[in-house]
Amino acid sequence: MIKKCLFPVAGYGTRFLPATKSMPKEMLPVVNKPLVQYGVEEAIEAGMLNCALVTGRGKRAIADHFDTNYELEHQISGSSKETLLEGIRDVIDRGVFTMVRQREMKGLGHAILTGEPLIGSEAFGVLLSDDLCINEGPGVLAQMTELYRQFRCSIVAVQEVPKDQVYKYGVIAGEAIKDDVYRVDKMVEKPSVEEAPSNLAIIGRYILTPDIFDIIRETPPGANGEVQITDALQTQARTGAVMAYKFKGRRFDCGSVPGFVEATNYVYENLYPSDL
Ligand code: G1P
Repeated sequence: MIKKCLFPVAGYGTRFLPATKSMPKEMLPVVNKPLVQYGVEEAIEAGMLNCALVTGRGKRAIADHFDTNYELEHQISGSSKETLLEGIRDVIDRGVFTMVRQREMKGLGHAILTGEPLIGSEAFGVLLSDDLCINEGPGVLAQMTELYRQFRCSIVAVQEVPKDQVYKYGVIAGEAIKDDVYRVDKMVEKPSVEEAPSNLAIIGRYILTPDIFDIIRETPPGANGEVQITDALQTQARTGAVMAYKFKGRRFDCGSVPGFVEATNYVYENLYPSDL
């Protein structure tokens, strides 16, 4: 039902310097697969076959990853190594990849608005590949799509975090309307512990209705002087409805070194085939 997913992938990844000096942070591998591929697989699993990448300077490797590499594929054709390409080939065959470049880094809201020409006027997913989510059942975007069928409004994924960590996130407050679903009445981007309306933090998965673009256009810069999607969603919650969904699954903060190492260990121990 939701066909498109937007991937803001223009950020610098300064926490991983020097690794990210000339390589996009989204290409950092968790074991043998780049972060962005985990995200694209999650979107495709949710039926969002149209992947809209909001890229920037120095991000060509991402576009190349979702394209054929004739020379390499010719070299390993017919050898046992070819099986290592099965996953990415499947993603490339099923997905459609579109790109737009963000010229200036003015925040997540601005990145999403930059993707408007790739999305048009339909509801769409947003996936921040720094937040790696691993599930046994349906992925987080697939879970949210189910919910969208019911509510037909914007939805954000949330997770409880320790109170002293709220300053890293957008934080919501709202009324629980059923198990794991809240109708949002307040959202604050990067609040202090005192300002935080709860410990329900937004994780990088969103379903947005297309009226969000006009709202973003009217949203002034907020936290860190950036145009924040959280602020635009707060307006949408006030004038319409926004739901927050406590998703099922495990999330790793791969935007931080400890989270990235934790994800690497988890994937290696639990998901990486021992015969490779
Ligand atoms: C962004 C959002 C924030 C959200 C977070 C999830 O922040 O602005 O609301 O909680 O992603 O990872 P960033 O991590 O880009 O600073």
